[in-house]
Amino acid sequence: MKTERDSFSSKFGVIAAAAGSAIGLGNIWKFPYIAGENGGGVFLIVYLVFILLIGIPVMMSEFIIGRKAHKNVFGAFRELTNSGFWKIIGVMGVMAAFFILSFYGTVAGWTMEFLILAITDSFSGRDAHEIEQLFSTFSEGAYKPVIFQIIFMAITALIVIGGIRKGIEKYTKILMPLLIVIILYLDITAVSLKGGGEGLRFLFNPDFSKLSPKLFIDALGHAFFTLSLGMGVLMTYASYFQKDTNLTSTSVSVAMADTIIALLAGIAIFPAVFAFSTEPAAGPGLVFITLPNIFELIPGGYVFSILFFLLLAVAALTSSISILEVVVAYLSEEKDISRTKATILAASAITVTGVLCTLSIGPLSDFLIFGFNIFELLDKVASNILLPLGGMLISIFVGWKMKRHIVIDELSNYGKVRIASIHLFMFLVRYLAPIAIFFVFLHGIGIIKI
Ligand code: TRP
Repeated sequence: MKTERDSFSSKFGVIAAAAGSAIGLGNIWKFPYIAGENGGGVFLIVYLVFILLIGIPVMMSEFIIGRKAHKNVFGAFRELTNSGFWKIIGVMGVMAAFFILSFYGTVAGWTMEFLILAITDSFSGRDAHEIEQLFSTFSEGAYKPVIFQIIFMAITALIVIGGIRKGIEKYTKILMPLLIVIILYLDITAVSLKGGGEGLRFLFNPDFSKLSPKLFIDALGHAFFTLSLGMGVLMTYASYFQKDTNLTSTSVSVAMADTIIALLAGIAIFPAVFAFSTEPAAGPGLVFITLPNIFELIPGGYVFSILFFLLLAVAALTSSISILEVVVAYLSEEKDISRTKATILAASAITVTGVLCTLSIGPLSDFLIFGFNIFELLDKVASNILLPLGGMLISIFVGWKMKRHIVIDELSNYGKVRIASIHLFMFLVRYLAPIAIFFVFLHGIGIIKI
């Protein structure tokens, strides 16, 4: 009896940790706004195809490398190959982590501000337009968003230093299901709103005339971002997996949980966008502008709004610690700096760039590079270039460089579980994933046209 329970809880723990990294602002904040900017339904289809054909195989590849090497991303490639070339995956990963955590902190700060607004009952009595004003006034400010960002980064750093992740994991197992319940409640309210059907059509009825190179790049970048892929985070987690962790089913479970939460967020948001006549392409403010309108309508809205923003902040935290960890592992293991020092150094440097991201929404909004503000630029470079490139190299490594029998051993737990189709997996990591990523790039920079 006892051993059965132990093994169940540890398997759930494995999935919970990987899912805790994957499920975050990417699902609830980023997915709806990026789908909204790219025409809704057609973005959803391309994104789902990318998750299935590229995301899951790349996640399995990170798991294979991590569990085989028992090391983080830098040590792993040193362990598995003599060539120094593959270090580039780690180097790009550190850059991506730095960039992503910079703007992640901005949005996590917004979440904390909205938590305070929820507690002080600041949404009630305001119409959709006034709530929009509320968001733009504070997000364009010079002080408040910066202060909340600093608080969020300090909490992230404290957790990475103190290693109280065990505790966090314990709570997230309770808190994340609660978040799903709240989103479901929002879903039911949203779909029954007058005019809400229009929003569901927007999300589920593809309009193929909206296909564009930008859509493909955004969908690929978001598939990597939302699954925490391409920079070795899941590789590091897999180094703690047990011998009997099934790598295939774990990947599929994490990807499914992640996708379901994104869809549930979309089902809450788009009907509300249409019912309250706000703008589906409103950009990064979308969730913050739309959801308070629903909270005003539902019974218990005051309590639910507090819980929602609190849990969103917690979801952001379980992701942000996994991002900071990449930079800390690099500094402490490659540069021989103590963990505490490395964490303080990394978190401080990221907070400085992060503050620039925050200010680029308001005071620095005129400062553009290639037409993007700093916030957008760091997001695009990390999500749309560094992560897919990392993912491409990771799949090439498993497909072409690792010995096939090692891949089979890892996927089958040394013959203990059946592999659904090794041929399909090898085809995906050798050909389909790398070639598809390559073509999305060429397409995106306008070298090829379809
Ligand atoms: N996946 C997380 C989200 O959706 C963000 C994240 C955490 C991430 N770790 C990552 C993104 C590693 C890329 C790489 O919010």
